[in-house]
Amino acid sequence: MYNIVIIGSSGHARVIIDAVERENKFRIAGIIDTFIVNTKASLDHDGIMGASSSFAPAVTAGGEVTIKPFAAVLLGANIIHGISTGEHSVVGAGSLVLSNVPDRVVAYGLPARIIRTRQPGEPYLKVKSGFLVCRETVALDK
Ligand SMILES: CC(C)(COP(=O)(O)OP(=O)(O)OC[C@H]1O[C@@H](n2cnc3c(N)ncnc32)[C@H](O)[C@@H]1OP(=O)(O)O)[C@@H](O)C(=O)NCCC(=O)NCCS
Repeated sequence: MYNIVIIGSSGHARVIIDAVERENKFRIAGIIDTFIVNTKASLDHDGIMGASSSFAPAVTAGGEVTIKPFAAVLLGANIIHGISTGEHSVVGAGSLVLSNVPDRVVAYGLPARIIRTRQPGEPYLKVKSGFLVCRETVALDK
């Protein structure tokens, strides 16, 4: 079995990792953590994107915003200056985030409110290919 190294670990890169693990033809020797700032999304001055975090298209974040590892901010959400979103948290599409988002929650709305907690391994979205995007399988702990 070939050893491979995967570059990228968030957003749809997660789908590739899931596919490689399912097919079991390659051994994932390592994953180089990255983050994704998708089409027309922006993070302003002094912002921090944690490993494996992601912005979907058209997300805007003001200055000094911190996106913790594995957090996902979905389509068109807006985050005001100085906010942080917690590890493994998900901010839903179209949200306006006015206060810090804790770890492991799903939050959305205008303004964003905590809707529920996220269980370990719970996918944050489903994509057309049928693979679930959850970004916390065994491979990420290697
Ligand atoms: C975060 C998210 C996945 C959570 O969805 P969820 O909690 O599973 O929500 P459901 O689809 O079960 O919907 C539950 C209710 O919340 C509402 N709701 C879901 N997401 C919402 C949002 N972002 N803002 C406001 N209301 C929302 C639904 O309309 C539904 O209302 P109803 O009960 O009156 O019908 C979803 O909010 C989201 O943002 N999806 C966008 C995904 C995206 O950006 N994809 C592109 C990636 S490149």
